[in-house]
Amino acid sequence: MIIAVDGPAASGKGTLGKRIAAHYGLNHLDTGLIYRAVARALLDQNLPLTDELAATAAARALDLSVLDEDRLRGPQAGEAASVISVYPGVREALLQGQRSFAMRGSGAVLDGRDIGTVICPDADAKIFVTASSEERAKRRWLELKIAHPDLAYETVLSDIQQRDTRDSNRAASPLRMADDARLLDTTKLDKETAFQAAIVLIEADLSRNR
Ligand code: DC
Repeated sequence: MIIAVDGPAASGKGTLGKRIAAHYGLNHLDTGLIYRAVARALLDQNLPLTDELAATAAARALDLSVLDEDRLRGPQAGEAASVISVYPGVREALLQGQRSFAMRGSGAVLDGRDIGTVICPDADAKIFVTASSEERAKRRWLELKIAHPDLAYETVLSDIQQRDTRDSNRAASPLRMADDARLLDTTKLDKETAFQAAIVLIEADLSRNR
């Protein structure tokens, strides 16, 4: 069984994806971490993010089984990931690894931007998780200001809006809701309600596909 969870930056899809995977006893892959790892490889070698060939080589060399989540979190890696993820060569190099992960064992929950549209178009259930950019910025800002008390909400909001624009407007596999995905708007939902709502939507898809 494969469940696709897509959505924009800071929509909460990672947390939801993890919980959904635990609920159904499936593997979980946060595909944002893969793009973050490619960007990190360039930053670690002091290579510019504009170096498409180096980014493609880093993507080809990446081992999906050793993603160091702690090192890859944070806004710098997220922004850098958004930049290198526009390169078609990078996306192509990462495609098969994601599909293989999805097919392993009894299946998986994958979260990202193009899971329902490109990576697993035949997924058994697809949800598209979103929230207003103001709400997503507020949640991200509350998280970040613990370590960065001087960080302004407006800075986080403008970063998120810039990321949305880049992720949605690139030519290769842009952020887009699949035609057969179900929309989950969490703007007014707390985490628990959002999770329960996600399960209702997924169950509706699963019973339709059974
Ligand atoms: O989900 P995230 O914030 O960790 O993702 C970081 C960036 O990686 C995101 O801005 C765009 C890119 N990405 C992508 O292009 N496709 C995916 N499936 C996941 C992430």
